[in-house]
Amino acid sequence: MDRRNFLLTGAAVLAASGAEAQMKMRDMPGMGNMDGMHSAMPHAGKGLALPEGAPFKELPVLANTGTTPNVFEAVLAAAPDKKRFASNVETPVLAYNGETPGPMIVATEGTKVRIAFVNNLRTEESTIHWHGMPVPADQDGNPTDPVAAKASRVYEFELPEDSAGSYWYHPHPHGRTAEQVYRGLAGAFIVKAKSDPIPAAYGDTSLLFTDLRIAADGTMPGNTMADLMNGRVGDHVLVNGVKNPTLTLPPGTARRFRLFNATNARYLRLAFGGLPITIIGSDGGLLEAPVHGAKEVLLAPAERMEIIVAFDKPGPVKLQTLSYDRGWMGEGRPKEAGMTLLTVDVAGEKAAPMPQLPDRFRTIATLESPVTKRRFVFGENMTMNGDDMKMDFLINGASFDMHRVDVQTKVGQVELWEIENPTDMDHPFHVHGTQFQIAESMRGGKARKPAYKAWKDTVNVARGETVRLLVRQDRPGLRMYHCHILEHEQQGMMGIVNVQA
Ligand code: C2O
Ligand code: CU
Ligand code: CU
Repeated sequence: MDRRNFLLTGAAVLAASGAEAQMKMRDMPGMGNMDGMHSAMPHAGKGLALPEGAPFKELPVLANTGTTPNVFEAVLAAAPDKKRFASNVETPVLAYNGETPGPMIVATEGTKVRIAFVNNLRTEESTIHWHGMPVPADQDGNPTDPVAAKASRVYEFELPEDSAGSYWYHPHPHGRTAEQVYRGLAGAFIVKAKSDPIPAAYGDTSLLFTDLRIAADGTMPGNTMADLMNGRVGDHVLVNGVKNPTLTLPPGTARRFRLFNATNARYLRLAFGGLPITIIGSDGGLLEAPVHGAKEVLLAPAERMEIIVAFDKPGPVKLQTLSYDRGWMGEGRPKEAGMTLLTVDVAGEKAAPMPQLPDRFRTIATLESPVTKRRFVFGENMTMNGDDMKMDFLINGASFDMHRVDVQTKVGQVELWEIENPTDMDHPFHVHGTQFQIAESMRGGKARKPAYKAWKDTVNVARGETVRLLVRQDRPGLRMYHCHILEHEQQGMMGIVNVQA
């Protein structure tokens, strides 16, 4: 099978996708009437209840095995493993160093990173992509640089000044990314500032969200046709690999959280039990100043955010999901609202008074005077060939081709990238190798400026929306840009920009 272009049978797609897709298909030439082929949706989830309320677990931290100052050295080995999500069954997973999510990497600006990647997957190639990080193109785990099964390589890069932020790492092999990630390969990568303006008393708690679908026998079912269309959404959103753990904090605590949406396709619109949220950071590190009083935050797949929440009154506070309609093809739209991801139990002796948060964190220079404007238009397409049906996710009408460069640019050149989404689903747009700024977004004829200045590497482009980005690449080489619903990326919604020195 061609790994990128899944060939789907028409009947199976109809079974999975329902009325909306049928209508679209009927509108296509030569489709005929397919009403008779509709049947129930074969969704394999809702199989297993998971225990909740276990004590909150920090992510395990990858140890630096090097002895040279300012060098971070370690091995990350990807391999099949087993994990107990519920006490009575074992689940085959893919893990980095036996952990899923993978161990958290913590290193400081100015450090040289040297990570040996060992691919111990049985038969599949893989890579490690350093999502959002300013690493050289040939060290970025692109699909063009696969590591064969049972092979290894070293990734080497330096963490520049001013790169502090909450990044993550995950595989990026051609046509296998979605499955390797939902089976467990993803981890957080925190670049610490040499001097952090956020007082240490606020702590630093990472919440990495993954989305698990698990059958009654403990296995993770493969992707259905509905998953290939909408992106895979699981049944349980886990925090650091655990369902709804309990974090106990003394009253009077204000806590810094780093949120990582490491799910394949789940939008996380979150509220913290009605408490005001102070937004302090985005994908590419701290904002210029705190944004106080947010009631909720939205994290599209692959986005990160740093927030501070103050817990004054004793009692439980729940981090919960709100509904977010990102467009859904066919039946089986998952429940988005009312899931409890984390419970903070505010209890015990009152905490010592918290130091004040500074009014300003840093200056973010505005990217200015773009020299070129480029347009990227998302598209979705279904084609029939006899009984076989092919679903394509496109950018500017083209499906990803590893051997085709879509855009030529130059190092240091500021460009205006206009991402237009005329499709029926939201698509989170991501660019490798750099952080961009949102200039404005347009929807329903109205232009909107972002609420605050931020460095971003992933931005949601809602249905019917156009988002304008200011983009500059500072390192030469081939870079991918794509939808971060991983099933869409895998089915073609990706392109290559060649950054010339
Ligand atoms: Cu998370 Cu191509 O990236
Ligand atoms: Cu990336
Ligand atoms: Cu998409």
